[in-house]
Formats: sequence, C-alpha cells, structure tokens
Amino acid sequence: MNTHRISDNIHYIGVNDRTTERFETLWPLPYGVSYNSYLVTGSDKAAIIDGVEVSHALQQIDAITEILGDRKPDYLVINHMEPDHSGAIRILRQAFPDIIIVGNAQTIAMVNGYYGVADNTLIVKDGDTLSLGEDSSLKFLLTPMVHWPETMVTYFDKEKTLFSGDAFGCFGALNGAVIDSDMDTAVYFPEMIRYYSNIVGKYGQFVQRALKKLEGVEISTICSTHGPVWRQQISKVVDLYDRLSRYEPLDNGVTIVYGSMYGNTERMAEAAAQALAEAGIKNIVVRNASKTDLSYIIADLFTHAGVIIAAPTYSDGLFPPVDAVMTAMSVRGLKNRRIAIMGSHTWAPMAIKKMSAHLEACGLEPITEPVAAKQAPSADILAKCRELAASLAATLG
Ligand SMILES: Cc1cc2nc3c(=O)[nH]c(=O)nc-3n(C[C@H](O)[C@H](O)[C@H](O)COP(=O)(O)O)c2cc1C
Ligand SMILES: [Fe+2]
Ligand SMILES: [Fe+2]
Repeated sequence: MNTHRISDNIHYIGVNDRTTERFETLWPLPYGVSYNSYLVTGSDKAAIIDGVEVSHALQQIDAITEILGDRKPDYLVINHMEPDHSGAIRILRQAFPDIIIVGNAQTIAMVNGYYGVADNTLIVKDGDTLSLGEDSSLKFLLTPMVHWPETMVTYFDKEKTLFSGDAFGCFGALNGAVIDSDMDTAVYFPEMIRYYSNIVGKYGQFVQRALKKLEGVEISTICSTHGPVWRQQISKVVDLYDRLSRYEPLDNGVTIVYGSMYGNTERMAEAAAQALAEAGIKNIVVRNASKTDLSYIIADLFTHAGVIIAAPTYSDGLFPPVDAVMTAMSVRGLKNRRIAIMGSHTWAPMAIKKMSAHLEACGLEPITEPVAAKQAPSADILAKCRELAASLAATLG
C-alpha cells in the first residue's frame, strides 16, 4: 500500500498514475504524475487533505483504512476541485458516509455541481481554522486562480506544514520515496517548469498574490498535490515558482521555434541558430513546431530569455503548428522576452502579419525588423536571418 509517514501526524495517502498518456488529455506524461493526498490526525479528529482521481479511489480508501484502523476520517478538505483531486469524492462518501466535506463557498457549490453532493459540508472562509484536537488545527487561506477560482491552501500550524494544492507541484510520479530528502529530485525540476508553464502559466499574477499572502507563514514542509513533498529544497522550489510567475526568464538562452513544410523556412531557422552560437549563446533550443509537442515548447519559452519564431504562410494565414505556439504564448501572457520573427511565403505574405498580431496580444515588440522570404531564401535573406540573430544575441548580453 502506498502509505508513507511524513511526520507523527501526517501520512501520505496519494497515488501514482503511470498509465494516463496526457494530463488533462493535453500534456504528455513521460514520467507519469502523482495525485497527492494526505491524512492529518489530531487527538480528536482525522482529516484527509486533497483527494485523488476517480480511478484510484479504492487505493486511497485502502490507505486510509490501513492507517486509521477502526477510526474513521472526520473531514475531507478540498483545496482544489479539479477532478484530478476530487474525482473520488462520491466513492469516498460511500466508504465513509459521515465524512464532512470542507471547502470554501465556491468549492462546495462545485462539489454539488460535479458530484451532486450537497449534505454534510462545512463552508470555510479565508483565515478560518478547524480544530483536530489538542494543539492541532488547520487554517485555510484562499488563493484564487492557483489554478481555479476556488483554490485555497491549508496550513497545519503544529508542524508548520503547508498543503499547497497545485502550487509548487510538478509532473512525474513518485518512485518509492515521497519526501525530497529521500530521493534524487533532478527529474522533477524540468517537470516543474513544464507543469507550471503548461497548467498554471496564465495565472502568474495570482501566484504572485498567493506568494505574498504566504510571506509571513513559517513553512518547514510543503505538501502539494503533485510530485515530491518538499522539505530540504523549499527555497529552490519557491524561488522557481516566484521567477516563473513573474515571467522572469531562467537563463539567457534562446528558443527557436519554426515550422517548415519543404525545408525553406527551416534553413532560415538554422542560419539564425548558427549565428546565435557564433555570438556566444550556449543555451539554444531549436524546435520544429510540427514535431515537438507544444507542452515542451511552452516550457522552453518560459525558460529562455530570447525567442526567434520562423513560419511559412499557409492558406492565407500562419502555419497552424506555429499559430498554436503563438496562441499558447498570448494565452499565458508571456512577458519579458527578447523576440524576433521571420516569415516565408510564395505568392501572398501573411505569416509575419499574423505573428505580429500575436505578439501585440502579448504586449511584446520584436527587437528588430522581421525577415521576410519569398520562395527559397536567397543568400541575402539568409544573411539577414544571421543579422537578426546577432541583434538578438546582443540584447541578451
Ligand atoms: C497547403 C499550402 C498552403 C499555402 N498557402 C500559402 C498562401 O496562402 N500564401 C502564400 O504566399 N504561400 C502559401 N504557401 C506556400 C508556403 O508559404 C511556402 O511553401 C513556404 O513559405 C516555403 O517554406 P517551407 O519550404 O519552409 O514550407 C502554401 C503552401 C502550402 C503547402
Ligand atoms: Fe489544477
Ligand atoms: Fe492538480
């Protein structure tokens, strides 16, 4: 059984999912994902914090029974209603009919809307506490839009533990150990950038608001809903979320994203990549938007300070895979990037116009004039691609 002691009063009762191909049917899961759930026991009451996805319900119930024996859980605290954490509610209710569902007003309305469960609930407000017995209580802090409007976090004062919901979470199932100090965490950091940028990336200002709200709270353990329990590397994790939510690049590298049907636009991207390397840029990632999953390209864009986008005109519009990348950028309001664009066409140019409109939606301005190629890029056009890249490199210092 996947139970794990985190402290005297906290047990891990979450599950690993190594079967689902794509989170939210969108984002690839090469290392799987965990749906973390916790059991907090006080002298009088026991509370489950965060649930699991529906197909893992029985596993969670077995874990609860293994820890509590004849005792029954009194509360189910729902920090976040997305079904990866709430899907098992009805089954949990059947197993433990007296369990009280705890959430804020928005959460409880959603519990009813999704699962038709309206009785035996407890509505909490920002700052409310719930006693679990002598010396132990849970405190609820509302953190809207991290990642849905009802999102909140729960703080267990006695052990200075923050149950943070999706905040500080990452992709990647847990491989035996649960706490960061008991494992090699290297795989989780790229998966954290991908998780943040893909899932939460649009809500940077709300993450910042939540971080400010938590500033005075003493935290020795972070129990999020996905990935390791953080104890040893809290400052690294909080710093990463802080930087990502401020849209601050993580390095001075460049992401080149291109689309190309017959190789002509690709040659422009290659010329730019070479020029960047010659200018001393070491972190250069060149992505074919038709091949690399959008998920990884979004993570690259959140990582590097520089961006070059190159795409053909397609049916009087922008080549669709690159259009999807630029839509993902504007949806997330990507900021603070040095960016340059290149477009190609055969008879009626449209790519650059469409790319410029996407950038305008982001509030980003290209650092230099776009390069436009008609049909195959000439030596002169390729020289311009190199110049564009050199100008970009110069801004990255
Ligand atoms: C299905 C299709 C639709 C296209 N639509 C346009 C178009 O509307 N206007 C245009 O000027 N070129 C159009 N083109 C030509 C491409 O823009 C041209 O192939 C591209 O710019 C050359 O780059 P590539 O070799 O990287 O694909 C189209 C090409 C294809 C295959
Ligand atoms: Fe979520
Ligand atoms: Fe989640």
